[in-house]
Amino acid sequence: MKYYITTPIYYVNAAPHIGHAYTTIVADMIRRFKGMQGYEAAVTTGSDEHGVNVERAAERAGKTPKEFTDVIAAAFQKEWQSLRLQVDYFQRTTNPQHARVVQDLFERCRRNGYIYKGSYTGQYCIFDNLYVNDAKPGDPCPDCGRPTETITEENFFFKLSAFGERLLELYEREPNFIQPETRRNEVMAFVKQGLTDLSITRSNIKWGIPVEGEAPHVFYVWFDALTAYMSAVDGEAMWPADLHLIGKEIVRFHAIYWPAFLMAAGLELPKRIFAHGWLLFEESKMSKSRGNIVRPEPIRRVMGVDALRYFLLREVVFGQDGSFSYDALVGRYNSDLANGLGNLASRTLTMIRQYNAGAVPAGNGAPTIAELARTTTASMIAAFAEFEFSKGLEAVWALLSATDKYIVEQAPWTLLKKGEEGRAAPGASCSRARRSAR
Ligand code: MSP
Repeated sequence: MKYYITTPIYYVNAAPHIGHAYTTIVADMIRRFKGMQGYEAAVTTGSDEHGVNVERAAERAGKTPKEFTDVIAAAFQKEWQSLRLQVDYFQRTTNPQHARVVQDLFERCRRNGYIYKGSYTGQYCIFDNLYVNDAKPGDPCPDCGRPTETITEENFFFKLSAFGERLLELYEREPNFIQPETRRNEVMAFVKQGLTDLSITRSNIKWGIPVEGEAPHVFYVWFDALTAYMSAVDGEAMWPADLHLIGKEIVRFHAIYWPAFLMAAGLELPKRIFAHGWLLFEESKMSKSRGNIVRPEPIRRVMGVDALRYFLLREVVFGQDGSFSYDALVGRYNSDLANGLGNLASRTLTMIRQYNAGAVPAGNGAPTIAELARTTTASMIAAFAEFEFSKGLEAVWALLSATDKYIVEQAPWTLLKKGEEGRAAPGASCSRARRSAR
């Protein structure tokens, strides 16, 4: 059975930071987890390369948009490689094969009567590519707070207003479609207020996928970007996605627009959308303008990818916001990994070597610890299946400390001195234990 996971396809106006790495690390981890359960799991990530802000960023850098996006898309790919994250499909929205799938989605929606031409005048945020309904000239963008711009243009509209009931039915029928619960409630409340139609093409931007036969229209970036989840696996029997992993700020696009586009086109819907919280740096969201961006690369070089992965999964309750700090990272590294896991592993390996000639003793070991290991495995699997990663890891670390405590209480080194080799190395023959203890 397949299990298809996606991360957002990231904007190429900035190099990858730990926020992007967070989602991609979780996607890779779920891929591993599902793989262990026998699924044929695959991950799609990629780069979102169109839109007016990319056009402008390229201009500032003295490059064509293509030259500009090539560099950053490559930086993202390299980042995932160096973090040893398995990416099965890296989709760039500038890939011509992707453009064909976007055009096809539009044609399907149009054929089914959900597209019409209309005129739009309103406020628009060029940074978030967001048309801000009900805003007055000069009003700030609700997402980033920067002033919106007034634009008027003829666009193709998508009849989003026709999908309110169907979306609400979907959320009722599939209570896990949007998780966590808080996000589901927000989305449902938003849809219940009534949906307005959505302008899905732009005529004032050059850097976008052309609407066939309708120059100068290009597709609105979200219509373009969301389709990457499908175009990445076109012809691969992976669609529908089993899981869209996203950050909480893009829930509306994923939980409202995307299923509506797919319903209009008569295509299958993704199974689940999970929106996690933000990694905050000293209580605020990381951003270029605040100058508080943390890069994964130096952490990887000093501590390794496993430590970074462990920290992010253990420290932050998945779904909620969490703080990133170097102190917390070093603290967890020392207490949980070096002292907890590291000491127990080294102590256990030393005992196996010293008391049992390097062979793992036969038998089930101490019944209490064996039982705890069984229940811990079950609760870890259950927690991970529910996206409760920190809870699952907490259970594993409880097993580690119980094992440590057991060793201290049993004190196999004193048992050996008293001649009770059988208990020091259960299952080992006395002669072997005696030989190696000498
Ligand atoms: N291009 C759009 C997504 C299109 S998907 C069809 C976009 N790109 S983005 O580069 O801004 O990436 C946003 C995503 O990166 C978030 O949804 C989240 O997955 C991840 N994160 C970026 N910063 C983050 C934090 N500070 N904390 C946690 N995740 C963050 O939106």
